[in-house]
Amino acid sequence: MGNAQAPAGPGQRLSCTIPIMALRRRAALWLLLAAMLRYRILAVELISTNLNPVVQEFQRAELSCIIASTKTANPRIEWKKIGSKETTYLLYNNKMQGEWEHRAQLHSRTSLIIYNVTRADKGLYRCEVVAPDDTIIGAEININLTVHVKPMAPTCRVPQSVPVGKSATLSCQEKEGFPEPTYSWHRNGEALPLDSKSSSKFQNSSFTVNPRTGTLVFNELQKGDSGRYSCRAMNAVGDAWCEGQDMEVYDLNVAGIIGGVLVVLLVLSLTTVGICCAYRKGFFVNNKQNGNSYKTTAKPDGVNYIRTDDEGDFRHKSSFVI
Ligand SMILES: *[C@@H]1O[C@H](CO)[C@@H](O)[C@H](O)[C@H]1NC(C)=O
Ligand SMILES: *[C@@H]1O[C@H](CO)[C@@H](O)[C@H](O)[C@H]1NC(C)=O
Ligand SMILES: *[C@@H]1O[C@H](CO)[C@@H](O)[C@H](O)[C@H]1NC(C)=O
Repeated sequence: MGNAQAPAGPGQRLSCTIPIMALRRRAALWLLLAAMLRYRILAVELISTNLNPVVQEFQRAELSCIIASTKTANPRIEWKKIGSKETTYLLYNNKMQGEWEHRAQLHSRTSLIIYNVTRADKGLYRCEVVAPDDTIIGAEININLTVHVKPMAPTCRVPQSVPVGKSATLSCQEKEGFPEPTYSWHRNGEALPLDSKSSSKFQNSSFTVNPRTGTLVFNELQKGDSGRYSCRAMNAVGDAWCEGQDMEVYDLNVAGIIGGVLVVLLVLSLTTVGICCAYRKGFFVNNKQNGNSYKTTAKPDGVNYIRTDDEGDFRHKSSFVI
């Protein structure tokens, strides 16, 4: 309080100067406002109802460009597509240019309608207006067109058969869709969770799904992971599936393998014994008909030579028979 009263002298002087400054400020404000109004009136001005239109492929796109104000009766309008390398005219000299003649049309004087847009049409378009009667004669507005594309059927890779306990990666990819699709995997028509741990139904499995890359990774396959796998690619405008593929998870059980080997060995030894017996009889017959043919005696000799292991035994038996 004391402090506020102390500079009373200078405060009075200030109170004399304030009205003058305020007047000057007010005048400046009016001048600025007047200038803005005049500027506004004399400049051609463009607005758009949508600077970032998003359309689906094969539908029509409206590129909105509206003259908000102009003094010029017939402003010149141009539309360009601004590419990264080159700029092409769509509308020039009041005419649609090239392919655009059949694909696009002016709408409400300055806006542009493109029929049946394709993914190649995405990009930046510029609406330019030249109004010679205005003080500021030119204006432009950029429209960024986004084209959404439905996914195609993705390419899926599923291993046909994998032993129990091994890891496996199933892949699913789609390259046409925009925005980039996300992926989900299905087994026998049933959607798989992103993580097998998240669902009690899949507690016996151990897998994870990456919805962005489309991979389904099994850490350790179980018999129950056998089935028909398919994948779905999906984005904002559609989805597509790859055809289901079967994956079989087979038992690689050691007891089974040993059993199998034993069976094979048993069969082999039985066959060997069988052949031995056959030749023993054959040899016996040959010995009896010794004078008849040398050809037949050569036969068991050859066989004897091959089966060196049994040779001693064979001879022993033969001599025993003789
Ligand atoms: C749209 O364009 C595509 C590709 O250019 C063409 O195959 C299709 O026939 C067109 N559709 C119509 C209705 O013009
Ligand atoms: C157009 O929009 C897309 C997505 O909305 C964006 O990625 C891109 O950078 C924009 N392009 C320009 C030139 O602004
Ligand atoms: C998981 O495995 C156990 C033991 O083999 C079985 O009893 C159970 O039913 C299985 N659970 C599922 C959901 O398949």
